[in-house]
Amino acid sequence: MKTQILTASSDDIKTAAGIIKAGGLVAFPTETVYGLGANALDAAAVKKIYEAKGRPRDNPTIVHIARASDIGMLTPDIDALTVSLIDNFWPGPLTLVVKKRHEVPDITTGGLPTVAVRMPDEPAALSLIREAGCPIAAPSANLSGKPSPTKMSHVIQDLDGRVDAIIVGDDCRVGIESTVLDVTARPPVILRPGIVTAVDIEAVIGEKAGFDPALLEKSETSGGGLKPKSPGMKYRHYAPKAKMVVIEGRRGRVKAEILRLKLLNEREGNRVGVLLFEEKAFREAAHDFFARLREMDDEGTDLILAGALSDVDGVGFAVMNRMMKSAGYNIVKV
Ligand code: TXA
Ligand code: MG
Repeated sequence: MKTQILTASSDDIKTAAGIIKAGGLVAFPTETVYGLGANALDAAAVKKIYEAKGRPRDNPTIVHIARASDIGMLTPDIDALTVSLIDNFWPGPLTLVVKKRHEVPDITTGGLPTVAVRMPDEPAALSLIREAGCPIAAPSANLSGKPSPTKMSHVIQDLDGRVDAIIVGDDCRVGIESTVLDVTARPPVILRPGIVTAVDIEAVIGEKAGFDPALLEKSETSGGGLKPKSPGMKYRHYAPKAKMVVIEGRRGRVKAEILRLKLLNEREGNRVGVLLFEEKAFREAAHDFFARLREMDDEGTDLILAGALSDVDGVGFAVMNRMMKSAGYNIVKV
């Protein structure tokens, strides 16, 4: 398949929207990560997303809309709490899991009775959805298992030749995927952490949010293998080609241990990459995390040594969720 490379010009958005209407696939930028979109209400089109990404079929997609009120097309009942979350956080990186209407095909929701919906905060994405005239199902625009794409070069690397078109744009502002919040539960439950944190959500709902217990596991196997509510969270994810180790502890000790392991491994002829963010620079860590993993892979890194961030901070917690998965829960405490 020849992939068209498009921009956010109005002519190109029309072309991209035509592809979506005809049941094709278009990758596009959002403020979090690039998405790979298809008409969410067209089962045959959504099926192509799974094929292009090599994505397991039970991993549901997020449905993107361009007007908050369009959530009514996807779900039969929207309660006051959901409305207040929408008022506060849309457009933006908060995905809401709600009961689905039967018009939403099973393949879009991985067979679940619920649908995940968000309104992205990115002009190109919003124009594409508006012009296509349908909600757009879009997982991240990477090959399944690889780090999420935050730059157009990542999308081209993974999907050129596999999709009808790619809308190129700037680097994604946020850098990690949206927070996924299940509002069918009371209190609502965070299924995937993101830069909209529990503290932010609690300020709106006036009570503590829940966390999917699978998020609090420190290893893949501890806790008797809890089954995450968000199916996508159970797969090995965001994996660089390199082996990756997370070093956790007091800052000075972490730095020293990284240096020690670096020297040791380089002496054995390995190419070692270090991922150590400034202390408390959580947003920056979120912004750079996936791009750094891909960069180190491109450099032929054999071993990535990553300093753990504090997960007391909500954004730190969200980055750590990705970091632990990337490292396959390979952690050294110092
Ligand atoms: O920021 C984002 O959310 C990006 C951009 C493109 O919008 N999209 C994204 O999609 O990250 P994806 O497919 O990589 O992740 C979707 C996550 C998965 O963990 C999936 O299991 C969860 O959302 N999810 C989708 N529908 C769900 C549902 N009905 N119930 C629970 N979890 C759901
Ligand atoms: Mg993804």
